[in-house]
Amino acid sequence: MVSRRALRLAQQSPAIASAHFRAEQRPYSPDLDPGGYLNLGTAENCLLWDLLQPRLTAPRRLTAADIRYGPLYGTAVLRVAIAAFLTRTQGLPIAADDLVVVSGATAALDIAATALCDPGDAIIVPAPYYGAFDVDLTARSEARLVDAPGDRDDQFRPSGQALDRAVRQARCAGLNPRAIVLASPSNPIGHVYDPGLLRGILRIAAAHGLDVIADEIYASSVFGLDTFTPLRAVADAVLPPDKVHTVTGFAKGFGLPGLKVGVLHTTDHAVRTAARQLAYFAPVSTDTQALLRELLADHSWTDSFLTVSRARLNDSYARITGLLDRYQIGYLPASAGFSVWVDLSPWLPEAGFPGETALWRRLWDEARLNILPGIQFRCPEPGWYRVCHAIEPATVTEAVHRLARLLEDQR
Ligand SMILES: Cc1ncc(COP(=O)(O)O)c(C=O)c1O
Repeated sequence: MVSRRALRLAQQSPAIASAHFRAEQRPYSPDLDPGGYLNLGTAENCLLWDLLQPRLTAPRRLTAADIRYGPLYGTAVLRVAIAAFLTRTQGLPIAADDLVVVSGATAALDIAATALCDPGDAIIVPAPYYGAFDVDLTARSEARLVDAPGDRDDQFRPSGQALDRAVRQARCAGLNPRAIVLASPSNPIGHVYDPGLLRGILRIAAAHGLDVIADEIYASSVFGLDTFTPLRAVADAVLPPDKVHTVTGFAKGFGLPGLKVGVLHTTDHAVRTAARQLAYFAPVSTDTQALLRELLADHSWTDSFLTVSRARLNDSYARITGLLDRYQIGYLPASAGFSVWVDLSPWLPEAGFPGETALWRRLWDEARLNILPGIQFRCPEPGWYRVCHAIEPATVTEAVHRLARLLEDQR
């Protein structure tokens, strides 16, 4: 018999993770298993292995220190390399001492929320949002998420009004609003937010005395014409910079999700001290840290890798949207990330979220297609689905064909 706490935590596995592992148990293969699952539910960039393989399999420098216990919030040398990388690519000075390196952005989010929130505190989140926030930000912190739904007419972008309303709703419900959390660039939609929108969010935080956690894990995955603005870059005049905490990691831009390396940046002394302590429970292996230290040391490799990676994402996005256009399936334009936010509302078998779930079941059972429905991202409007495309082009083509066949049948 396990404890009540273990039971509570065990029930909280995000739907994104369970769908991924179910689909991967029987993956599609044109030759070996053409009836297998097509996994377009997981935000992984699988288009980079040819670039990564030579680097990851080459002999590398490893010293005795690299296999000893290091600081559990990241070795000094890796934090210096990450600080230099972020300073170079984002044009904002970052100090290595303000970084906490842990096992994945997931752990960084958990640590940031736990360091900031007590049970009964509220975290305000523009919706739709990355579905695992539900678990990552609340399971240990025992904070509650309160949605600030975006407006369809503004392509569900975060809005100051919605955030302000959500703060007031939280207070009416007896909760203590503590922070705003947003993914920027956005997941699931793939928007890159302009400085004006980011400043609007900071203004609401300032008005209500909130901190802001910006999950910027997709910062190196911008492929459109928009330019990424780090939230910290616009904080100065609006919110004290130590109230902005940034999460990033190696899972997306670097295409290394399985290495599970995430980073929290904070200049708040107390939060950083707490985060360093909490890192004790989620450290990164010293071998992985040594590997990343070597990657980041080679600036020209890193820069050209990220440039090629963005160009491939652009091609991948053009390919999938071309297919969707061919079948007249609607979607919102994206300029970052690995997914397209697709509108299947014309095909829902019944109204509302029950219809969205029913169509999702058919996609899973009959088309053997893993894409996640909007309800998993707390989308305020039914009928939207997140379709990830940064995988083998033939698989994407097969997936869109299967989707279109099922929708035709649904009509
Ligand atoms: C916005 C966002 N944050 C965090 C994560 C998780 O990152 P990691 O695998 O480094 O824990 C993801 C992965 O999909 C994500 O999309």
